[in-house]
Amino acid sequence: MSDRYLAFANSAAGRRLLRTLGLPTPVRLERWLPGRSRTLDGALLLGGDGALLESLPGFAHKLSGELYADRPERFGLPCWRRTDDARLKALVFDASGLSRFEQLGELRTFFQPELKHLAPCPRLLVLGRAPESLDDPQAASVQRALEGFTRSLGKEVRRGGCVQLLYVGEGAEPRLEGALRFFLSPKSAYVSGQVLRLAPCAAQVKDWTRPLAGKTALVTGASRGIGAAIAETLARDGAEVVLLDVPAAADALAALAARFGGSALTLDICSEDAPARLVEALPEGIDILVHNAGITRDKTLAKMNEAQWEAVIEVNLQAPHLLTQALLQAGKLREQGRVVLIASISGIAGNPGQSNYATSKAGLIGLAQAWAPTLAGRGISINAVAPGFIETRMTAAMPLALREAGRRMNALGQGGLPQDVAETVAWLAQPGSGAVSGQVLRVCGQSLLGA
Ligand SMILES: NC(=O)c1ccc[n+]([C@@H]2O[C@H](COP(=O)([O-])OP(=O)(O)OC[C@H]3O[C@@H](n4cnc5c(N)ncnc54)[C@H](O)[C@@H]3O)[C@@H](O)[C@H]2O)c1
Repeated sequence: MSDRYLAFANSAAGRRLLRTLGLPTPVRLERWLPGRSRTLDGALLLGGDGALLESLPGFAHKLSGELYADRPERFGLPCWRRTDDARLKALVFDASGLSRFEQLGELRTFFQPELKHLAPCPRLLVLGRAPESLDDPQAASVQRALEGFTRSLGKEVRRGGCVQLLYVGEGAEPRLEGALRFFLSPKSAYVSGQVLRLAPCAAQVKDWTRPLAGKTALVTGASRGIGAAIAETLARDGAEVVLLDVPAAADALAALAARFGGSALTLDICSEDAPARLVEALPEGIDILVHNAGITRDKTLAKMNEAQWEAVIEVNLQAPHLLTQALLQAGKLREQGRVVLIASISGIAGNPGQSNYATSKAGLIGLAQAWAPTLAGRGISINAVAPGFIETRMTAAMPLALREAGRRMNALGQGGLPQDVAETVAWLAQPGSGAVSGQVLRVCGQSLLGA
């Protein structure tokens, strides 16, 4: 559904009027277009004092054709000096070396001079060490403080900018390339204010132009909306995709499968024989499992009947659990497998009228957290992706006032697109993304709802 406010804010007259009235002027976000190969179109500045920075120059030249360091004679890179016509597109600050409160000011010193002069849709990234990995209380506190800084900067940065914090574990440095290829590129257009932990992971992408080559993926609820975008994006990245949806969606499913060169599987994931049928339909097994199928039956709890409650729990939570369990028991989820559960920010923040839905989506986050340690032994990762307001049929059906509130109540002032969720899933599905497991990644434009 078209966002008329966004279109108006991006017209010359609209921008003038909205600025005069002091109203927000969301920008059109840059997105990854077919045929693109470079992560960044613009200058990348590397700075900070930790040990993590040492691992960046080895691959950073593959991300941007214009690399700078924050001080002279560093990594053989030119030192950044802003001029009137030169603007930074991305900044990466290694804060892992900060351990005293008085050093926190280095964040301000590094970012502040550039904030009013950034290129459109800039990418800002802070690197640190997970507080729980540090023994010294002050050092742990300083690293935890990075969260407050990052989330605030995400809410301040203008022109479609996104800011993230990555806590990088000892030995996880080689996984930074995959993470930066996602977080510094337009693939993460609608991801901001996020905090993720990277752990060591043996697998790595071999060909960055087709990072999922040789992998087989199953996507549930793939006949339309977010599921169709996920299937398309996984296929773009080289995966062979099995698209699953209810029998009533057979025609749309077959058409999409033909378009992406994948195969279609009609199955109601709640039917009693669904686990057995799924196992039978995947004789060779799969590497990537995306539980996207989901429904809403919105009512306040006072008015919700048993059928509305049960249907949502069954489709959104119970079926993903039973199907994953069946695939694991039958050995159909291969070593180094990647499982992604599509949750929702409702499952994090709660939402009036969605107690059933929020319960199911919070339960999915619980599944990711509970399963991650067990699956780690086989190199399998499992994560939840929590979309905020995404422009789909589901949100087009919302009452106007709620829809407008959902679109604007985030740091980017607009709804996301199915592609934004799909790019995030595709990144988590990569071999090297086994570095992330048992975590939740929100695709919500840094929604003001929830943490
Ligand atoms: N649209 C949003 O803003 C938004 C926000 C947060 C989370 N999500 C989640 O993202 C996922 C996709 O959302 P969407 O907006 O594309 O929804 P959608 O309604 O357009 O698509 C959901 C798909 O799931 C399929 N499905 C439903 N029940 C099924 C069953 N029993 N067996 C097999 N397939 C079944 C449907 O046929 C449909 O194709 C859902 O899990 C949803 O909860 C969406």
